[in-house]
Formats: sequence, structure tokens, C-alpha cells
Amino acid sequence: MEKKAEDPGQAKRAAGYRAAEMVEDGMVVGLGTGSTVYYTIERLSERIRGGLEISGIPTSFQTALRAKAAHIPLTTLDDKPEIDIAIDGADEVDPKLRLIKGRGAAHLREKCVAAAAKRFIVVVDEQKMVKKLGAAAVPVEVLPFAVIPVMHELRRLGCEPVLREAVKKDGPVITDNGNFIVDCRFSIIRYPEKLETALAAIPGVLESGLFTGLVKKTTVIVGGPKKVKILSSADIFA
Ligand code: 5RP
Repeated sequence: MEKKAEDPGQAKRAAGYRAAEMVEDGMVVGLGTGSTVYYTIERLSERIRGGLEISGIPTSFQTALRAKAAHIPLTTLDDKPEIDIAIDGADEVDPKLRLIKGRGAAHLREKCVAAAAKRFIVVVDEQKMVKKLGAAAVPVEVLPFAVIPVMHELRRLGCEPVLREAVKKDGPVITDNGNFIVDCRFSIIRYPEKLETALAAIPGVLESGLFTGLVKKTTVIVGGPKKVKILSSADIFA
């Protein structure tokens, strides 16, 4: 019998919904960006209709619009600088729960929100789990003023930087913060922590999509066709 193609939407829904079940009454919730977190928002909306009271901090215009449409009350980092739980997607997750994020160009705000959260819940489907980070490009948010010298420095770090082009608009992607995105493909990244530090040290770089410093508070929910798997830092540091 022919094997049925796996529906990534189903796995994303399973992971996104499971994360929404971790949210408790009264929590401030960081709301990540992307197609997996979309399902978290959907499930939170159902739970709010059932009486759950939370406030959300969106990480992008897209998520703010989705959360408003889902009747999730929103707040800001100014008003709630301490977040109980942040829920977000990822493009790659390695066995130490280090991440590449930023396909949606939202990683600058996503990292601010995740850093301010007590717990960071990452929702992915199985295809995002990798042995080594680096098949996905590392997005880097760059101040437009400094894009040429930054690209020069990125080449020195060993990648071929590509300025991300917009779709349905001529020219580069402009982020929610008014900056450019440069995608950096390194193939295998041997030392993700060192690379994140090196990227952050380039003047004009606002943030990279490497997330290596949040591992201790990270839980990864991996959606599969039949069930979800939950990986936490406790499994790694045990
Ligand atoms: C946006 C992100 C997303 O969370 C990441 O790209 C995963 O997206 P998706 O859940 O749609 O696969 O980092 O900047």
C-alpha cells in the first residue's frame, strides 16, 4: 500500500495546541510568530471563550493582528516586562535545544520576548529537528545604514550573505522594526554559541536568528502525525 504523505499542518496543530494547554489563568504570554504558533493562538482563543484570563505580548504585526482577531487581550513589554511563558516556533532545533529562527523576520522581537520569559516553549513539527544547525540560513536583522559593512563582516565569518528580497514589493524586506534582513548560510554550524556572539558583535547587527542562550528555560514540543514529544533542558542537563 502506498504510504500517505505526512501533513505538516496536522503536526503543527498538535504542537501548537499542546503549548496552549500549558498556559494558566492570569499568565502573561509571549506570542511568537509563524504558522505553528497560529494554532496556539487558535486554541488560546477557544480557552478564553471558556473563561481563561490571560494577556499576550505579540512578537510581530502579524501575530498582533491574529491575536486581536482571536480576542486575546494584548499588553506590552513596557507594561509587563516579566513574562510567564513565551511560545514560539523555530526553523531548526538541535539535540541541545539550540535554535535557528527568523524565517518570518520576527526574531528580534521574538528574542526580546523569549529573554523576558520565565519559560520558553518552542513548537515545531518533526522536520525541524536536526542533528546539527545550519541547513537553514541564519537570518540577521541589520540597520539599513550599515548593511554594506555588515555584509562584508558576515563574509569574513564564513557565509555568503544574501539581502532578503520582499514578495509583492520591489526591494528588500523591511522588518516590523524598519530594518533589513540578511540571510547567512553557513552549512554546518560547529559552534553555535560562538557564532551567535560573533554576529552580535558586528556594529549594525540588531539580532541574529541563532538562539543558544535560552536553553535552560526551553521546552520543545515536537508535533508528529500521531503524538507529540516533549523535550526539555532537564533531559539534557540530567
Ligand atoms: C518567525 C519565526 C518562526 O517562528 C519560525 O520561522 C517558524 O515558523 P513556522 O512555525 O511557520 O514554521 O522565527 O520569525
